[in-house]
Amino acid sequence: MKKYHAVMNRIYLLVIVVAIFTGCQKNSNTSPSSANSRVDGRVDSVLALMTLEEKIGQLTLFTSDYDVTGPTIRENYKDDIKAGKVGAIFNAFGADYTRKLQEIAVKETRLHIPLLFGYDVIHGHRTIFPIPLGESCSWDLNVMQQSARIAAEEASAEGLHWTFAPMCDIARDPRWGRMAEGAGEDTYLGSRIAEARVKGFQGEGIGALNSVLACVKHFAAYGAAQAGRDYHTTDMSDRVLREVYLPPYKAAIDAGAATVMTSFNELDGIPATGNKYLMTDILRKEWNFTGFVVTDYTSIMELLPHGIAEDTASAAALALEAGVDMDMQAGFYNDALEKLVKEGKLKEGLIDEAVRRILRKKFELGLFDDPYRYSNVEREKSTVMKKEFLDAARDGARKSIVLLKNEKQVLPLSKSIKRLAVIGPLADARREMIGSWSAAGDWTKAVTLLEGIKAAVTSSTQVLYARGCNINDDTTKYFAQAIQTAKQADVVVLAVGEAALMTGEAASRTALDLPGVQQKLVEEIQKTGKPMVVVLSNGRPLTINWINDNIPAIVETWFLGTQAGYAIADVLFGDYNPSGKLTVTFPRAVGQVPIHYSMKNTGRPMDANNKYTSKYLDESNEPLYPFGYGLSYTTFTYGDISLSSPQITQQDELKVTCKVTNTGKRAGEEVVQLYIHDLVGSVTRPVKELKNFQKIMLQPGESKEITFTITQHDLSFYRKDMSFGVEPGKFEVYIGGNSRDLKKAAFMLR
Ligand code: GLC
Repeated sequence: MKKYHAVMNRIYLLVIVVAIFTGCQKNSNTSPSSANSRVDGRVDSVLALMTLEEKIGQLTLFTSDYDVTGPTIRENYKDDIKAGKVGAIFNAFGADYTRKLQEIAVKETRLHIPLLFGYDVIHGHRTIFPIPLGESCSWDLNVMQQSARIAAEEASAEGLHWTFAPMCDIARDPRWGRMAEGAGEDTYLGSRIAEARVKGFQGEGIGALNSVLACVKHFAAYGAAQAGRDYHTTDMSDRVLREVYLPPYKAAIDAGAATVMTSFNELDGIPATGNKYLMTDILRKEWNFTGFVVTDYTSIMELLPHGIAEDTASAAALALEAGVDMDMQAGFYNDALEKLVKEGKLKEGLIDEAVRRILRKKFELGLFDDPYRYSNVEREKSTVMKKEFLDAARDGARKSIVLLKNEKQVLPLSKSIKRLAVIGPLADARREMIGSWSAAGDWTKAVTLLEGIKAAVTSSTQVLYARGCNINDDTTKYFAQAIQTAKQADVVVLAVGEAALMTGEAASRTALDLPGVQQKLVEEIQKTGKPMVVVLSNGRPLTINWINDNIPAIVETWFLGTQAGYAIADVLFGDYNPSGKLTVTFPRAVGQVPIHYSMKNTGRPMDANNKYTSKYLDESNEPLYPFGYGLSYTTFTYGDISLSSPQITQQDELKVTCKVTNTGKRAGEEVVQLYIHDLVGSVTRPVKELKNFQKIMLQPGESKEITFTITQHDLSFYRKDMSFGVEPGKFEVYIGGNSRDLKKAAFMLR
């Protein structure tokens, strides 16, 4: 019998080689379309050889035990590979380890089909960049594309083919911990950032040795979880879905993203993983997405607790028929699809289509030509954490920092301060610096704020340190020492915030205050009367109202990654003039949530002098800091807006121009933002919508005329009949350095 199998194996191998070889012989002059048909030919050649069980194996993704990113793991995944029951592995990385697993698939299975290796390379692989929310505050698309590019360089050098990023979920509820992973509250900015990140990950194209498949997640509207509670229900009109939440996913797909991941949440009563409207009608029919769809972690199994499927078979059938190609970690496709097909309850053609989409990516990656091409130890050694990557991480980190307050010019600090106290639970918190979803990042290599400050100051400066308190408990036993340390200093830098894993997945909070006793520590240190700077490390907006009222300088640093300490010091001492702008609104109170800049006017807009208008008894409607806000060590003024015409037709574009001047004493970057307001429509329109921005550098005293072009698309929306287009009427246009302090002009659309 063994001899028979050996002979059959050789025959299959010969057939495979012939199939692949003949596939690559067609149309040697490949234009994109003939390249696709060439790949399709090769895919069909392999598909024709596969048994139903082997096809189903290709639709299965299991985690290795190298890293754990969800509620279940499987010890026997290597046996699964050998048995042809898995086509992709995630949470495994490293040239050597991926090679070992690949050898099992290529040498020990009947058809030798190579594995895909995926991982959550969200904001860097080994060199860790700022968390995505932080990086989005740079408003620098080149910075964000470059960090994704570097992440792909490192990940692909460690055997990875696929990253589960970019996360494109619009988030307007800071109670939701995963706000940290996205690009903030705005649809336009989130769309541009999604494009940049896909281009970074996929680089010059799938198949390039330093590119990885991007994965647009979590489709769709995961960020709208009710009450900010992770995995919770999302429910919204089709208009809000299409106007606010879908555009970033579509922008990522239009940028060429190879894969899409379903979200855990239900939408309009149907969980995304079983939602044909999302996975087929919108994704494939409207958007012409041709890649493959993978579920999130065990989310086919979760159709049972959702209450939309009563058993494994119905859950598997629902997902496959909805348009889901690959089952992450549930194993439900393996368990149920074969029987469903044999009982005539499911068409094998559905499985074939899903297998084609997955095999196509394996061919495009070159894995059938060389399954080990990404698992090269020499390349890994020469690529990971190169100095140029660390330098880029420091540069991106500096640009992500947002200066929230700087009264009495406390900042920048002098490097020759006699005694500088660095106090607080985030002052020397190495692990926290790389934030959540830091994957293979080595936190032991992160630079803390204390280290960054020590490296920046002169030898004449004495740097004092005290922890002051823990991040999230109620002990105040370290207060006395911290207060004593502050009293000895000329200036105090107080580092407070959240623990990295208080943000990210399964990390929702009901309060947005500083955790533990940190607020008390700030108040005690403030009583010393020393000049103070508060440095925040956090993954969501925090209600730091008291700090805003009582501390002269506040710097928002998020979790800045491997080079965090150096980047913060660059800003604190003025080696870099902060240019970041918030991409999420900071509420004054969690009770204001959801609060964002592009809300509706209502029929009773707030009027402080009229009881019966839309407001609170106990808090203002205004945020603590608005979307788009961020200060500089210089100042900028905006001239009046000039329009190319006071009115346009529906065939015209409109040019809007504004002169921006650096009125301070040092060079600085400004993010010039363009907003519109459609005053009257067949449906109500937000009071403002970001439609463009430019980040510019101005020397002291320098002015620049900034011109934007407003297109018909910019003025379009989902009208009452859900058609997408414009409506004649009056528009206001705004330009400024944040969503509140703006110059205004008006024009008519005829
Ligand atoms: C997690 C996350 C998802 C991640 C996946 C694999 O549960 O929701 O973002 O890509 O599982 O780790």
